Amino acid sequence: MFWEKEVETLPLKELRRLQLSRLKKSLLQAAKSPAYSKIFKAQRISPATVKTLADLEYLPFTTKEDLRKNFPYGYVTVRKEKIVRVHSSSGTTGRATAVFHTLGDLEQWTNLVARCMYMAGVRKSDVFQNMMGYGLFTGGLGFHYGAERLGALTIPAGSGNSKRQIALMRDFETTVVHIIPSYALHLWKVFEEMGLDPKRDTKLRMAFIGAEPHSEATRQRIEEMYGIEAFNSYGLSEMNGPGVAFECLEKSGMHVWEDQFIIEVIDPKTLKVLPDGEEGELVFTTLMREGMPLIRYRSKDLATLFPGPCRCRRTHRRISRIKGRSDDMFILKGVNIFPLQIDTTLMNIPEVGTNYQVVLERENFQDKMIVRVEVRPEFFKGELRQLENLRRQITEALKSDLLVTPKVELVEPDTLPKSEGKAVRVIDKREI
Ligand code: COA
Ligand code: AMP
Ligand code: ZN
Repeated sequence: MFWEKEVETLPLKELRRLQLSRLKKSLLQAAKSPAYSKIFKAQRISPATVKTLADLEYLPFTTKEDLRKNFPYGYVTVRKEKIVRVHSSSGTTGRATAVFHTLGDLEQWTNLVARCMYMAGVRKSDVFQNMMGYGLFTGGLGFHYGAERLGALTIPAGSGNSKRQIALMRDFETTVVHIIPSYALHLWKVFEEMGLDPKRDTKLRMAFIGAEPHSEATRQRIEEMYGIEAFNSYGLSEMNGPGVAFECLEKSGMHVWEDQFIIEVIDPKTLKVLPDGEEGELVFTTLMREGMPLIRYRSKDLATLFPGPCRCRRTHRRISRIKGRSDDMFILKGVNIFPLQIDTTLMNIPEVGTNYQVVLERENFQDKMIVRVEVRPEFFKGELRQLENLRRQITEALKSDLLVTPKVELVEPDTLPKSEGKAVRVIDKREI
């Protein structure tokens, strides 16, 4: 039942003691980066003054904006020779963030993912198919190495090509998949179109679903459609990626691995730490990361930290499902999108008028982003070919920056509601 019984069931007092000693080391490590060294100096913070876990509250937060300002190497603490991997999540013009790992960091991450998978019941005899994007997304390589560490036969399927996914599942008798929940719904439809029933025609028994918000109803739907157990998996690139919090067999919240991260829940407005049981924004501090430790990183994800022990005997506290965001980022097909990216891309195209509208829909089990764009009067001559070229150009530009393909619709000038100030209106009609 346990991958590392001792650490997973460490009595709370000892877990807190371990966190404190690791926090002190992590702060010393962080201070080696140009960014933290500057912040610590400016705010007269010395890692040595941190005597208790409660002292963490006096340390400054780190945000995505900070990472962007110090892009790419500002938070790196080691010589470049020691860095072996980077993950990043943006397209061509997006304001990128990057997270760097040493071999030691990858080792820790791999072990954490193996711990999560083992907790849910994956064993060496399983065949694991990873349908997340490989490359710069963390869900691909992150889960891949964890599954191999555990000893499962691992299929690096990557995202897309649904028929091939199904063929792989059938050929290699896949038992466990890692899949984005909205894609699991779509893939079921493809099974149906092929005259197949995953319950009858595959050996699937388990799925790890994550990377985007989803409800308990969606989980149950996936479980029923495929005849499997589905476990919620939470992570973010800044904290490695998957492996931060994961459901155990109880499926009553996701255990956050507190030997690796300190979790705090804050009120996103007052920035004050909230007591367990209150909903707020999750804030994470890495405890073991060498190449790029992050202190009090504001995830912008809203959730609740459950007080009290879990029936599985693991002592690490659990978080609820992610309930929303404290910023305007949204996720489509497992890809994070900031409305500002859409605005920047569109406003760089001279033919685009002042107003546009973004609508997110889930239609026939498929997620879609419709971008309605006004064309400037001088370009709106009504010539079909010219408009089609423009539509294609806008689609390409958005795809290369957002990493998903939008459905672009051109409309006449002054036909869309006026955008107020800089606010970008995204209408999300998806039921999660
Ligand atoms: N995961 C895997 N495959 C997906 C997917 C998802 N979330 N969403 C769509 N797909 C499939 C589509 O079904 C299609 O295959 P099919 O036509 O054989 O069924 C194929 O990918 C292309 O999808 P499409 O919607 O036309 O392309 P896009 O350009 O909008 O999206 C993806 C590109 C799907 C490749 C991109 O969204 C992606 O890689 N998503 C996964 C992101 C991820 O792994 N996130 C994890 C972060 S840890
Ligand atoms: P990335 O940094 O690209 O891996 O994206 C991380 C973000 O994906 C998180 O901050 C969440 O907003 C979202 N996310 C990841 N896992 C989950 C999950 N299980 N449920 C809801 N949202 C998730
Ligand atoms: Zn548990």
